[in-house]
Amino acid sequence: MNSEDGALITQSLEIASERGGDLTGAVYARLFHERPDLEPLFVMDTDGAVRGEMLSRVFDAILDFVGDRAYAHNLIHAEASNHDGYNVPRDTFTLFFTTVAKTVEEACGDAWNEGMSQAWKRLLNALDAYIAA
Ligand code: HEM
Repeated sequence: MNSEDGALITQSLEIASERGGDLTGAVYARLFHERPDLEPLFVMDTDGAVRGEMLSRVFDAILDFVGDRAYAHNLIHAEASNHDGYNVPRDTFTLFFTTVAKTVEEACGDAWNEGMSQAWKRLLNALDAYIAA
Protein backbone atom coordinates (compact mmCIF):
# COMPACT_ATOMS: atom_id res chain seq x y z
CA MET A 1 0.00 0.00 0.00
CA ASN A 2 1.19 3.53 -0.71
CA SER A 3 -0.22 7.04 -0.35
CA GLU A 4 -1.74 6.85 -3.82
CA ASP A 5 -3.69 3.76 -2.75
CA GLY A 6 -4.93 5.69 0.28
CA ALA A 7 -6.13 8.54 -1.92
CA LEU A 8 -7.94 6.14 -4.29
CA ILE A 9 -9.64 4.29 -1.44
CA THR A 10 -10.70 7.52 0.24
CA GLN A 11 -12.02 8.79 -3.08
CA SER A 12 -13.97 5.57 -3.70
CA LEU A 13 -15.56 5.79 -0.24
CA GLU A 14 -16.55 9.42 -0.85
CA ILE A 15 -18.12 8.62 -4.22
CA ALA A 16 -19.90 5.55 -2.81
CA SER A 17 -21.38 7.63 -0.03
CA GLU A 18 -22.45 10.43 -2.39
CA ARG A 19 -24.08 8.01 -4.82
CA GLY A 20 -25.26 5.25 -2.50
CA GLY A 21 -26.03 7.13 0.71
CA ASP A 22 -26.01 4.88 3.77
CA LEU A 23 -24.46 1.59 2.64
CA THR A 24 -25.43 -0.34 5.77
CA GLY A 25 -28.37 -2.17 4.20
CA ALA A 26 -26.40 -3.12 1.07
CA VAL A 27 -23.33 -4.36 2.99
CA TYR A 28 -25.25 -6.66 5.34
CA ALA A 29 -27.60 -7.90 2.59
CA ARG A 30 -24.55 -8.94 0.56
CA LEU A 31 -22.87 -10.48 3.61
CA PHE A 32 -25.92 -12.53 4.63
CA HIS A 33 -26.55 -13.56 1.03
CA GLU A 34 -23.07 -15.08 0.89
CA ARG A 35 -23.08 -16.41 4.44
CA PRO A 36 -26.65 -16.90 5.72
CA ASP A 37 -25.20 -18.52 8.84
CA LEU A 38 -23.92 -15.10 10.00
CA GLU A 39 -27.33 -13.44 10.17
CA PRO A 40 -28.43 -15.13 13.43
CA LEU A 41 -25.35 -13.65 15.16
CA PHE A 42 -27.11 -10.27 14.95
CA VAL A 43 -30.41 -11.51 16.39
CA MET A 44 -30.06 -9.19 19.42
CA ASP A 45 -29.69 -6.20 17.09
CA THR A 46 -33.42 -5.78 16.54
CA ASP A 47 -33.29 -2.19 15.19
CA GLY A 48 -30.04 -2.50 13.19
CA ALA A 49 -28.22 0.02 15.41
CA VAL A 50 -25.33 -2.34 16.18
CA ARG A 51 -24.89 -3.18 12.49
CA GLY A 52 -24.82 0.53 11.61
CA GLU A 53 -22.40 1.39 14.43
CA MET A 54 -20.11 -1.51 13.54
CA LEU A 55 -19.97 -0.54 9.86
CA SER A 56 -19.24 3.09 10.68
CA ARG A 57 -16.31 1.94 12.88
CA VAL A 58 -15.10 -0.23 10.02
CA PHE A 59 -15.19 2.74 7.58
CA ASP A 60 -13.31 4.89 10.11
CA ALA A 61 -10.77 2.11 10.61
CA ILE A 62 -10.24 1.77 6.84
CA LEU A 63 -9.67 5.53 6.48
CA ASP A 64 -7.18 5.50 9.35
CA PHE A 65 -5.49 2.35 8.03
CA VAL A 66 -4.85 3.90 4.61
CA GLY A 67 -3.85 7.23 6.18
CA ASP A 68 -2.06 7.93 9.47
CA ARG A 69 -2.53 4.40 10.77
CA ALA A 70 -2.84 5.86 14.24
CA TYR A 71 -5.02 3.11 15.68
CA ALA A 72 -6.64 0.95 12.99
CA HIS A 73 -4.06 -1.85 12.99
CA ASN A 74 -4.46 -2.25 16.77
CA LEU A 75 -8.25 -1.95 16.61
CA ILE A 76 -8.61 -4.63 13.94
CA HIS A 77 -6.29 -6.97 15.76
CA ALA A 78 -8.18 -6.36 19.04
CA GLU A 79 -11.66 -6.70 17.50
CA ALA A 80 -10.74 -10.00 15.84
CA SER A 81 -10.06 -11.29 19.32
CA ASN A 82 -13.01 -9.46 21.06
CA HIS A 83 -15.42 -10.89 18.53
CA ASP A 84 -14.57 -14.41 19.67
CA GLY A 85 -17.08 -13.47 22.40
CA TYR A 86 -19.78 -13.00 19.74
CA ASN A 87 -18.85 -16.36 18.17
CA VAL A 88 -17.58 -14.54 15.09
CA PRO A 89 -15.06 -16.74 13.24
CA ARG A 90 -11.81 -15.02 12.21
CA ASP A 91 -12.25 -15.78 8.52
CA THR A 92 -15.39 -13.63 8.49
CA PHE A 93 -13.27 -10.52 9.04
CA THR A 94 -11.67 -10.96 5.62
CA LEU A 95 -15.10 -11.68 4.18
CA PHE A 96 -16.55 -8.56 5.81
CA PHE A 97 -13.85 -6.29 4.39
CA THR A 98 -14.25 -7.93 0.97
CA THR A 99 -18.01 -7.39 1.21
CA VAL A 100 -17.45 -3.70 2.01
CA ALA A 101 -15.13 -3.44 -1.02
CA LYS A 102 -17.70 -5.02 -3.37
CA THR A 103 -20.49 -2.81 -2.02
CA VAL A 104 -18.35 0.31 -2.50
CA GLU A 105 -17.54 -0.79 -6.05
CA GLU A 106 -21.22 -1.29 -6.81
CA ALA A 107 -22.19 2.08 -5.30
CA CYS A 108 -19.46 3.88 -7.30
CA GLY A 109 -20.89 2.51 -10.54
CA ASP A 110 -19.15 3.98 -13.59
CA ALA A 111 -16.90 6.12 -11.36
CA TRP A 112 -15.11 2.93 -10.20
CA ASN A 113 -11.76 2.45 -11.97
CA GLU A 114 -8.87 0.01 -12.26
CA GLY A 115 -6.72 2.05 -9.87
CA MET A 116 -9.38 1.76 -7.15
CA SER A 117 -9.66 -1.94 -7.82
CA GLN A 118 -5.90 -2.49 -7.38
CA ALA A 119 -5.77 -0.24 -4.30
CA TRP A 120 -8.60 -2.18 -2.61
CA LYS A 121 -6.87 -5.50 -3.45
CA ARG A 122 -3.70 -4.29 -1.75
CA LEU A 123 -5.72 -3.00 1.21
CA LEU A 124 -7.51 -6.33 1.68
CA ASN A 125 -4.18 -8.17 1.60
CA ALA A 126 -2.63 -5.76 4.10
CA LEU A 127 -5.61 -6.09 6.48
CA ASP A 128 -5.31 -9.87 6.45
CA ALA A 129 -2.03 -9.69 8.32
CA TYR A 130 -3.73 -7.95 11.29
CA ILE A 131 -6.69 -10.31 11.34
CA ALA A 132 -4.53 -13.42 11.36
CA ALA A 133 -2.02 -12.08 13.91
C1 HEM B 1 -12.65 -4.56 12.04
C2 HEM B 1 -13.82 -5.15 11.93
C3 HEM B 1 -14.91 -4.97 12.97
C4 HEM B 1 -15.12 -3.93 13.84
C5 HEM B 1 -14.31 -2.65 14.04
C6 HEM B 1 -16.31 -4.28 14.60
C7 HEM B 1 -16.87 -3.51 15.60
C8 HEM B 1 -17.95 -3.86 16.36
C9 HEM B 1 -18.49 -3.06 17.42
C10 HEM B 1 -17.95 -1.69 17.86
C11 HEM B 1 -19.56 -3.73 17.93
C12 HEM B 1 -20.48 -3.27 19.04
C13 HEM B 1 -21.42 -2.24 18.47
C14 HEM B 1 -22.45 -1.74 19.47
O1 HEM B 1 -22.73 -2.46 20.44
O2 HEM B 1 -22.97 -0.64 19.25
C15 HEM B 1 -19.68 -4.97 17.19
C16 HEM B 1 -20.64 -5.94 17.44
C17 HEM B 1 -20.77 -7.10 16.70
N1 HEM B 1 -20.04 -7.47 15.60
FE1 HEM B 1 -18.43 -6.48 14.86
N2 HEM B 1 -16.79 -5.49 14.16
C18 HEM B 1 -15.96 -5.94 13.16
C19 HEM B 1 -16.09 -7.11 12.43
C20 HEM B 1 -17.11 -8.02 12.55
C21 HEM B 1 -17.33 -9.17 11.69
C22 HEM B 1 -16.44 -9.57 10.54
C23 HEM B 1 -18.45 -9.79 12.10
C24 HEM B 1 -19.09 -11.02 11.49
C25 HEM B 1 -20.14 -10.98 10.78
C26 HEM B 1 -18.95 -9.06 13.26
C27 HEM B 1 -20.07 -9.36 14.01
C28 HEM B 1 -20.51 -8.68 15.12
C29 HEM B 1 -21.61 -9.12 15.97
C30 HEM B 1 -22.40 -10.42 15.80
C31 HEM B 1 -21.77 -8.13 16.96
C32 HEM B 1 -22.75 -8.15 18.12
C33 HEM B 1 -24.14 -7.89 17.71
C34 HEM B 1 -25.04 -7.74 18.92
O3 HEM B 1 -24.56 -7.50 20.05
O4 HEM B 1 -26.23 -7.88 18.73
N3 HEM B 1 -18.12 -7.98 13.49
N4 HEM B 1 -18.69 -5.03 16.24
